[in-house]
Amino acid sequence: MNLSEIRIDSLKKIEELNSERDLAALKTYLFGKTGVLTGLMKGLKDLPPEQKPQAGKEINDLRVELMGLCEQKEKELHRMAIEQSINSQVIDLTIDRPDHAIGHAHPINQVRRRLTEYFVGNGYIVYDSPEIETDYYNFQALNVPPDHPARDMQDTFFITDNILLRTQTSSGQIRLMEKYKPPLKMICPGRVFRNDDDSTHSPVFHQMEGLVIDKNVTLCDLKGALEGFAKFIFGEETRIRFRPSYFPFTEPSVEVDVSCFNCHGSGCRVCKNTGWIEILGAGMVNRRVLSGCGIDPDEYHGFAFGVGLDRITMILCAINDIKLMWENDVRFLHMFK
Ligand code: PHE
Repeated sequence: MNLSEIRIDSLKKIEELNSERDLAALKTYLFGKTGVLTGLMKGLKDLPPEQKPQAGKEINDLRVELMGLCEQKEKELHRMAIEQSINSQVIDLTIDRPDHAIGHAHPINQVRRRLTEYFVGNGYIVYDSPEIETDYYNFQALNVPPDHPARDMQDTFFITDNILLRTQTSSGQIRLMEKYKPPLKMICPGRVFRNDDDSTHSPVFHQMEGLVIDKNVTLCDLKGALEGFAKFIFGEETRIRFRPSYFPFTEPSVEVDVSCFNCHGSGCRVCKNTGWIEILGAGMVNRRVLSGCGIDPDEYHGFAFGVGLDRITMILCAINDIKLMWENDVRFLHMFK
């Protein structure tokens, strides 16, 4: 092959190349120790002296041109190799995994959040009160002196003679009233403890206390507040009724029923054929409780209520055994997403 044939042949080969390995082979073929161009260079010595400069220049020009092209090709092949490796490792982050398990709040917490949402939306603050209490906050300040028969309403876990696990969130009422001046509007959700254990009672359960203190607060205000709450939780058509009851810290005291959301009053299993479901205790804050907290009972009045969150959850989820909510079997929990 003469120079121009070598040139055309090489240009074609470089053009068609598509791997770094083939390029290396071509470079050896052209520029290696026994390569074509190396051979031509070596052959220069056999030419007549007057042809040497011209022939040498032509061979060298071709060598420079082909080396440049090879270098360019090398860069191109390298870029293609990177591109290819990136493309082959692409992970589609948008793809959906159907078995992806997403957690959710425990049913009792869902109920607590919903109730909180309602009351906070109506201007109540959320107040946190201790679970370990003194006898004073859990009983005495709530108008239950030592030896008062009302103590038997709640079987208490005592830690010492004076320290106990709160049996009711009502202790939060006292702590709030001691700390802040009326007007007051608060809810106090939390765990409470009683030595009680059967299918509808657990030694640990949850309550949400409500307290409103202001001038001219009446039983009608209590009814209005609880009616709004009942409709929010159980549906717009829900009605409520008050039954007379007794709590030492409220006077008068009431037990509050809601019309059955399941049968709307005609009688079913949920309401045990009565058409009504008992949901909470409430009443007008006893004068003695107010004055004990330094609030003048002639100037301020208030109402209080205590909702059992476990009970509301059991009613809403149609669960008849409170233990199910404590076992935390995920198969059970997933039924209440
Ligand atoms: N603390 C009462 C209970 O646990 C409920 C209650 C709260 C009643 C507030 C009246 C007012 O049974």
